[in-house]
Formats: sequence, structure tokens, C-alpha cells
Amino acid sequence: ETRPIPHPPRRVPVLGDILGMDRSAPSQRTLWQHRQLGPIYQRVIVGTKLTFVTGSELVEEINDEKRFRKHVGRPLANLRTIVDDGLFTAFHNEPNWSKAHNILMPGFTRDAMRGYHRTMLETTRELIVRWDEHATAEFVDVPAEMSKLTLEMIGRAGFGYSFDSFRSDAAEDPFVAAMLRALRHAEQAAIPIPFRGLFAGKAERQNEADIAYITGVVDRVIAERRADPDDTHHDLLELMLHSSDPDSGECLDEVNIRNQVLTFLVAGHETSANALAFALYFLARNPEIAAKARAEVESLWPGQDEPDVTFEQVAKLRYVRRVVDETLRLWPTAPGYFREAVADTTIGDGYEFKEDDWAFVLVLGLHRDPVWGPDVETFDPDRFLPEHVRARPGHVYKPFGTGLRACIGRQFALHEMVLALALLVHRYDFEPEPGYELRVKEQLTLKPDEFRLRVKRPVSP
Ligand code: HEM
Repeated sequence: ETRPIPHPPRRVPVLGDILGMDRSAPSQRTLWQHRQLGPIYQRVIVGTKLTFVTGSELVEEINDEKRFRKHVGRPLANLRTIVDDGLFTAFHNEPNWSKAHNILMPGFTRDAMRGYHRTMLETTRELIVRWDEHATAEFVDVPAEMSKLTLEMIGRAGFGYSFDSFRSDAAEDPFVAAMLRALRHAEQAAIPIPFRGLFAGKAERQNEADIAYITGVVDRVIAERRADPDDTHHDLLELMLHSSDPDSGECLDEVNIRNQVLTFLVAGHETSANALAFALYFLARNPEIAAKARAEVESLWPGQDEPDVTFEQVAKLRYVRRVVDETLRLWPTAPGYFREAVADTTIGDGYEFKEDDWAFVLVLGLHRDPVWGPDVETFDPDRFLPEHVRARPGHVYKPFGTGLRACIGRQFALHEMVLALALLVHRYDFEPEPGYELRVKEQLTLKPDEFRLRVKRPVSP
């Protein structure tokens, strides 16, 4: 017995369910729409079905790897002009995915994290030097600052490459500027804008130049490493250049290595940066939570001006970790993921999916499912106390996606975020700009728009 998937009430002839879309905030709009229509709904637009799922039970089924797999949805497919069959945007049947996955997995083990730790610590210290000079005197753009930090961390730890983000003249690196423009261009390509054709020529030429520039830089980084006679790096680039896939015995080709480097720079920086920005927002807004986090870091590094944080200590920062977990619950910076049916199937009590039909799992909504309790909008890190985590089903918390294609960089992200947040809490009190109300901006990721902060050194007790 099948039954129709609910849809918005007002269908327009031919065009279908075009009313009530919000292209500037699609995920937040979808969250609102789920509140009206329940845990699953569908828009049919000129015959194309867009299905959204958010309820805990339906998500459990859709995460079943035997019945569903990752779908490269439109926003991801658009990125393929930049990163093609890189890990994040590869279709399920592309051979380079498993090759690259097998080759790169050793770059994300606990031992690998131990190797990146020093670099992450030193990079955060450079941010602190910068903040001591600027952020104590003026309000700084938090997402922009965090973006510098995480781009620098993945660049240095992953590829031994620095973007010089913390140079005092602070001009944006041309690589970063070109990459961000190309990303925004790829996202815009999805949005039908009237008369776009009139302006397309100039934008297209700029985009071609941007892509040529960023691929040129990456190719240079790769060539320099290849030419390095005493290469002692232990990083992602080293794995890609010198190891082979145990299954096929093959190495990655030149073009695919470039796609992976760009993939890591793209997938590995904005999500973590925005999560850190949200975390700082919540700490600035909740002084009692910030005080608990500070008590934890102070107990590890009492009175130290420049704590020499060890790798093992980061795992001991249980409260700071809960702040990160709860931040990613309320504002999962990757707001959801796409799944497609492996074969004809139904979910729930009869919602039908034909082979290759897809749905977008709105993690933003899943993280507000009734299983989280009545006060889902409240920021409460203690939801992630072990006893509470054990009491919840595992599939209701999915900030890093699910299954085979879940985030390969999860441990990298958690280590860098906990470390950076701990050092910032240890050093500063946070003062949000007066009157700031949280506005969440959506590009591929979610971010606290125009969130600015001033910091000061706390007075010792
Ligand atoms: C995949 C989230 C940080 C690299 C994913 C996916 C999600 C996600 C939801 C699955 C996407 C899908 O199913 O279509 C996040 C969040 C992060 C984060 C919220 C930070 C808070 C990172 C970092 C790296 C990274 C730091 C690299 C060092 C990747 C890659 C994939 C991926 C390469 C594709 C994996 C594959 O399909 O094989 N991420 N990510 N991410 N992420 Fe992350």
C-alpha cells in the first residue's frame, strides 16, 4: 500500500509547487515547511520531484546503506566544474572515489591527527597574536577570522602550504579570493536569475580565469613537492603522491590529485570555520557556559600565558567538546545531505521511492526532532553528557553525514575546533556587538552573518 508524499497546499498549473520558496535561505525555509507539512514533503517543480525528509524514523530508513546511497545533489554537482570527481562530489560508481578513499584514509587516523596537532596549535597561536593586536580594540568579523584559521590549518597540515592568512597587511590572498569567487559562481549557477544571459559573458570569463588560477597554484604546490629531494612530510599530499590503493594497486593520477587538493581546501575549511563562529556566538551569549568552558581549560593550564597543549589534552576537554557538539546540533554548518534509492522501495507507511529517486535529509530539522526534548532551540551542551547520548538513537545526530560517504575529515575537524576554541576561551572574554541578533546566512554552508566580536583578556581571580 503506497501513499502520496505531502506537498505544499497551493499547486500552480504546469509549474507546480513554486510558491513559498526562499532561495536566499533554502534550508531555513525547508525547516519551516516541515513544521507545516510534517517529517516528509515534496515539491514537484515542472515535473521534477524535490523530496525533503527530516523525521527521525524516516531518516533511520534512508540512512540504511543497503537501500539508499549518497546522491550528488544539484548544489554538489555544480561544484564538479571545480573539483570534478574529487571525494566529495564523486558519483557512487566513479572508480576514483574508492581509490582516493583507500589512499587517503590513513591521513585521518588518530596517529595522523597526532601529526597535525603541532601545526594546528601553532596556527591558532598566530591567530591569537593577531587578535591581541586587533580584536581587543575593535570588533572583528568572526566568520572571516575563523575562515582564515581553518584554511591555514588544512593548507599547512594537509599540504605543507601556507596562504599567509595572518600577514599583518591582511590583504586577501589571491588564491583564496579566486577560490571563493569560483565557489560562489558554482552555487549561483543553480539559481535561475532573469536576464542572467545579459551579464553572463563577463562572469563566465572571470570564472574561467579564477579556475585556471587556482588549478595553476595547486599544480605548483604538487610540482614543488615532487621536486623536493628530502621530502619528510607526513600529510595528505604525501599519501596521494607516494602511496597506492591496496585494492587496485593503482596510484592517483595527476589531475585527480589536483581535484582532491581542491576538494579538501573547499570541504575542509568553511564548515569548520562557520562552526567555530557559531560556537563563539553561543559562548558570547551564554556567559555561564563560557565560564564552565574556561574552568575546564584553566584546570589544565592554570595561569599559563601560552599553554603548551599536548595532543592527549585535547581529548580531555570534555566540556569544550560538548560545546562543539551542541553547536553542530543547533546549526549544523552542512545543513543536510542527499540520498538516493538503490532500488525501488518505500519508507514510512508507504512513501514510494523508485530506483535513483532522491531525498534531501534536512539535518537542521533532524537535530530539532522531538526526541531531543521540548526545548530544542535552547543551547545546552549537557545534552551531550554520555548518559544522555546513550539514551538517544544514534541516527538523530548527523552533522557529518552518514554511511560510506560520511565526512572523512570528521576527526580533523573536531580536533581543530576543540583545540582552537579551548585556546580562545583560555585567553579571552567575549563581547558580542551590542544589539546583534543572530541571522543565519546560507551559501553551501550555514554561517552567523555579520557576527562580530570584541575580546578582552580576563582579569585573573
Ligand atoms: C563529507 C560535514 C569538516 C572533508 C562531508 C559530509 C558532511 C560533512 C555532512 C557528507 C556530505 C554528503 O553526504 O554529501 C562536515 C562538517 C565539518 C566538516 C560539518 C566541520 C565542522 C571537514 C574537514 C575536511 C572534510 C575538516 C577535510 C580535512 C570532507 C570530504 C568529504 C566530506 C573529503 C567527502 C567524503 C566522501 O564522500 O568520501 N562533510 N565536514 N570535512 N567532508 Fe566534511
